[in-house]
Amino acid sequence: GKIVLAYSGGLDTSIILKWLQETYGCEVVTFTADLGQGEELEPARAKAAILGIKDVRIVDLREEFVRDFVFPMLRANALYEGQYLLGSSIARPLIAKHLVAVAREVGADAVAHGSTGKGNDQVRFELAVNALDPSLEVIAPWPQWDIRSRAQLLEYAARHQIPVPKDKRGDAPFSIDANLLHTSTEGKVLEDPAEIAPGYIYQRTVDPVDAPDRPEIVAIGFESGDPVSVDGRPMTPAALLTELNERGGRHGVGRLDLVENRFIGMKSRGVYETPGGTILLAAHRGIESITLDRAAAHLKDELMPRYAELIYNGFWFSPEREMLQALIDRSQAFVSGEVTLRLYKGNASVISRTSPSSLYSADLVTFEEGRRAYNHHDAEGSSG
Ligand code: ARG
Ligand code: SIN
Repeated sequence: GKIVLAYSGGLDTSIILKWLQETYGCEVVTFTADLGQGEELEPARAKAAILGIKDVRIVDLREEFVRDFVFPMLRANALYEGQYLLGSSIARPLIAKHLVAVAREVGADAVAHGSTGKGNDQVRFELAVNALDPSLEVIAPWPQWDIRSRAQLLEYAARHQIPVPKDKRGDAPFSIDANLLHTSTEGKVLEDPAEIAPGYIYQRTVDPVDAPDRPEIVAIGFESGDPVSVDGRPMTPAALLTELNERGGRHGVGRLDLVENRFIGMKSRGVYETPGGTILLAAHRGIESITLDRAAAHLKDELMPRYAELIYNGFWFSPEREMLQALIDRSQAFVSGEVTLRLYKGNASVISRTSPSSLYSADLVTFEEGRRAYNHHDAEGSSG
């Protein structure tokens, strides 16, 4: 049989590639997804070829990622534990979906990935692949092989003539995961939650202290719950998120330093940068504030933590996530209009909203005498 490996082109997955060839003695096909991680992916092709791979696949999944995964999740205003925008969690089911598709195409009986086994990612890959094709085996070398330390990993690389980038030769590197939605950084100095994260770990946002003194205004158009334009210019999902990442990043929007509870039962500390996603969450709440009925909005907010937890724990391809998604999608029919935000020193603040389906009634709410359609006596008896 064959094995399809989720291959980043980096050191860890290159070692996994060699290890799979040695351990299973079968053909390995590599699959590399462009999720907007901001790295050149063509070097991965050359590297895989050097390591003896005949079938190397590099696929641009940016539009699919934002359109079919990030935006549906945004409709729910999903946040894990009140703060985390789920940037890594939401990418795993997409990668799993394509691993399964490639496996079927080439007739493989297993897929493999490089998650360490100490985390959520392993569980997410396994659950997603099992949901899509239970006949496929999921191989995760980290929990299996006898490489136990960074030093042993480098030793294995040297023995198999796998090139090691200079910055990886010393200490264990940070564990970084990047895509169009976020960059997450874990490990090393961050493992002590009392230690303040050093400034150099941030990759796509400036420190709000160093952000421009002049605010920037951005207008986001929505149609049925999904963002469709920036400053009146219609944009594809990936182009729109890319633009908001750049603009938010310049103003230090979307930094988060968090201790979270992993699915498998341990706390971990990570630093997240989600500039565009942070803008979109504020904007989406802004457009919902004038277009959603009160009870509908409150029901969504009650269900949101359950929905976020399903995504965090790896249950994207589950009936319960799909049921909640149907409810959330149904609520978005009239969530259309435009929201204007001000980006300034780490904040994305809503400053105006308009909608053709607005439920807002100035006549009802006004403090001005004369126009008032609501009488103070109208609330009498409402508390029972
Ligand atoms: N803790 C975050 C999550 O579970 C980020 C994980 C990032 N993964 C990684 N291999 N660095 O979603
Ligand atoms: C890992 O790569 O397994 C560690 C990060 C995580 O999955 O939470």
